[in-house]
Amino acid sequence: MTEREVPLSRPCTGEDEIEAVSRVIRSGWLAHGPEVKAFESAFAGYIGVSHAVALNSATSALHLALIAHGVRGEVILPSFTFVASANAVVTAGCTPVFADIDPLSLCISPAAIEANISEQTIAIMPVHFGGRASDMAPIMELAEKHGLMVLEDSAEAIGATCDGHMTGSFGAGCFSFFPTKNMACGEGGMLTTDDPELAERIRALRGHGIASTTHERHGSHNPWRREAVMPGYNFRMPDVLAAIGRVQLKKLDFMNERRCEHAAWLDMRLREYKGVQTPTPPANGNHVYQMYTVVLDPKLYDRNAVVNRMREQGVGASVHFDPPVHQQEYYRENFPHSALPVTESVAASILTLPLFPDMTKAMLERVAEAFSEALAAGQRTS
Ligand SMILES: Cc1ncc(COP(=O)(O)O)c(C=O)c1O
Repeated sequence: MTEREVPLSRPCTGEDEIEAVSRVIRSGWLAHGPEVKAFESAFAGYIGVSHAVALNSATSALHLALIAHGVRGEVILPSFTFVASANAVVTAGCTPVFADIDPLSLCISPAAIEANISEQTIAIMPVHFGGRASDMAPIMELAEKHGLMVLEDSAEAIGATCDGHMTGSFGAGCFSFFPTKNMACGEGGMLTTDDPELAERIRALRGHGIASTTHERHGSHNPWRREAVMPGYNFRMPDVLAAIGRVQLKKLDFMNERRCEHAAWLDMRLREYKGVQTPTPPANGNHVYQMYTVVLDPKLYDRNAVVNRMREQGVGASVHFDPPVHQQEYYRENFPHSALPVTESVAASILTLPLFPDMTKAMLERVAEAFSEALAAGQRTS
């Protein structure tokens, strides 16, 4: 990579993570064990909930939360999200019902949720987009009024708050540790909840339906006795990844602060361009900029031309998310949906600029310079 190339994202890892992984490898216990337990306890403390269950991905967390809920029916979620949110609904035997988003927050609109509640609705799944929390107060009110589960897809918002509370502490929270997220383990996920029964069912479901783990049985008088209490999966997180997670969690606030500083710098630099909507932090919480997305005025700019021009210059711009889920082949054919005007217009005009904690000033300058050049190249002539 040359000095003028900037990746879209890069995990902020170093000697501490290497040391943590080495410690686990030297211990001889690589599978699900004491590191996972310690990571769960630290993560629950950070989010402010009583239980955290470590898993192999956020998709598994979303899927298991619905399976553990035990009731099948309709789940209301945004279509403007990564397809994993909707896939988890379908693979859990439920039906996705897509609600439109708010044009500023880019998160699900509470009014659109309300309009989609039916006799079949069992859950609401707000997706906290790109580091910004959904507006949780009206969502919790609707859930309470209609007796619905709230399943927060918090994959993109670790450390974001709404009304003084962390995302993932309102309902059941589902987090991702994929390398592009606010903290990274390589792969991995976490389910957070204050409901002890939900936590217990998910612990069993993640390990073949067996209530205890191998590590918990190790050293007991009959460690071979494994009893399934339900049919389950193997969605466990190994200790090697949990050890990375523990280090990353300690650095999370620092990393999120760096993201915020870089975002503030980009906000300031991009202010001069007409028809460029930068991310809006909520009035009632913080933004943790898992992504820095801008929405272009489609009358002024050709989004695809802008993204391609940036990429030609070695600056890793991308698009999150186009097409939205309801316009993807499987969903088009199996869950045909009426138009979602805001979702469709945002999906067609949004782009993501590089942003990650250890970006240098030179990298930020390079992103702004490439964006400016690409914007000029992508300007519509008529
Ligand atoms: C909104 C959203 N939900 C779910 C996921 C899935 O996360 P994981 O890869 O950990 O399953 C992602 C990851 O990209 C995401 O952005």
